[in-house]
Amino acid sequence: MAKTAGVAEKPVTTEPLLRVRGLVKHYPLTQGILIKRQIGAVKAVDGVDFELGAGETLGIVGESGCGKSTVAKMLVNLERPTAGEIQYKGEDITKLSGRALKAVRRNIQMVFQDPYTSLNPRMTVGDIIGEPYEIHPEVAPKGSRRAKVQELLDVVGLNPEYINRYPHQFSGGQRQRIGIARGLALRPEIIVADEPVSALDVSVQAQVVNLLDRLQSEFHLSYVFIAHDLSIVRHISDRVGVMYLGRIVETGTDAEIYEHPTHPYTQALLSAVPVPDPDAREHRERIILSGDVPSPANPPSGCRFRTRCWKARERCALEVPALAVPAEFRGVGGPAEHDSACHFAEEKHVVP
Ligand SMILES: Nc1ncnc2c1ncn2[C@@H]1O[C@H](COP(=O)(O)OP(=O)(O)OP(=O)(O)O)[C@@H](O)[C@H]1O
Ligand code: SF4
Ligand SMILES: [Mg+2]
Repeated sequence: MAKTAGVAEKPVTTEPLLRVRGLVKHYPLTQGILIKRQIGAVKAVDGVDFELGAGETLGIVGESGCGKSTVAKMLVNLERPTAGEIQYKGEDITKLSGRALKAVRRNIQMVFQDPYTSLNPRMTVGDIIGEPYEIHPEVAPKGSRRAKVQELLDVVGLNPEYINRYPHQFSGGQRQRIGIARGLALRPEIIVADEPVSALDVSVQAQVVNLLDRLQSEFHLSYVFIAHDLSIVRHISDRVGVMYLGRIVETGTDAEIYEHPTHPYTQALLSAVPVPDPDAREHRERIILSGDVPSPANPPSGCRFRTRCWKARERCALEVPALAVPAEFRGVGGPAEHDSACHFAEEKHVVP
């Protein structure tokens, strides 16, 4: 959703398009060559809840391996959840199959992280963008496809005459525009963009983010925008969910998360965001996290962040903190009153 600088906008409607509840994806860990035995599971996603309103952008951020892509793949049905619900307009799409599933999938499309590997090098741009019409011919009967693809090229800022070219003839930014055009081909309502700019040069990243912003207004899209860079997410998101080791640990509007974070992990991530103003840079507090992210096959008991948290106490190892408004902020009003999965949540201004 387009924003004016520094002004946080609230979600556009109240009825969510997507409601995700208790989403889980465990990948079995097996041993043995002839007879495979399950000896455990990689808990890639382990109980994720969020909502996405019409016209809204939800940013999901977190370090590498925390489960962002796995969430994305489940939303577009590239992976089946181990447990949990993904409700689209009130209907749990994880239970659908056949025609009903196909109809829903049309409305939820994905833009992938790497524009170099996600486009088939042997297909022309026209065939790549028009490929979804093979599965959904009702959207564009054969005779109209070329014109539709050219219109899409134009919409994403590429010359419609490039329709017969191959991916290698384009730059990274242009390839991502092709990926976005393919995502738009079926006129979806929701686009799940999995780190859509992180493989691109910094100079091109803003152009692609601006394009996504413009397309959102033009096509009334809702976005789930995944990134590990908090600064990129802020530009485009209405609300942000911060992920750590398979769970969302804090969620709120962009102003709540960036200016009034209450979870130690969010505070640490924010303290690492580059600050252009040298004066502000000097005055902000850097929080250096010790240790590595634990293995999702064997997450810590209680709070998963406790092995790296400078505030961890005994209770943190014993009790899983719920993602809810912490008791100390409940009913007080103001920006600290948002969901944060921490037993000892405290407001901390990290970025001056
Ligand atoms: N098919 C799979 N089988 C086993 N483990 C997997 C599989 N896919 C992902 N994982 C594991 O699940 C965890 C989450 O992976 P995921 O790709 O969702 O993370 P991510 O947050 O997208 O990371 P990145 O920022 O590096 O893209 C990782 O530990 C990963 O190794
Ligand atoms: S619950 Fe404990 S370990 Fe977890 S973030 Fe809060 S203080 Fe840190
Ligand atoms: Mg990923």
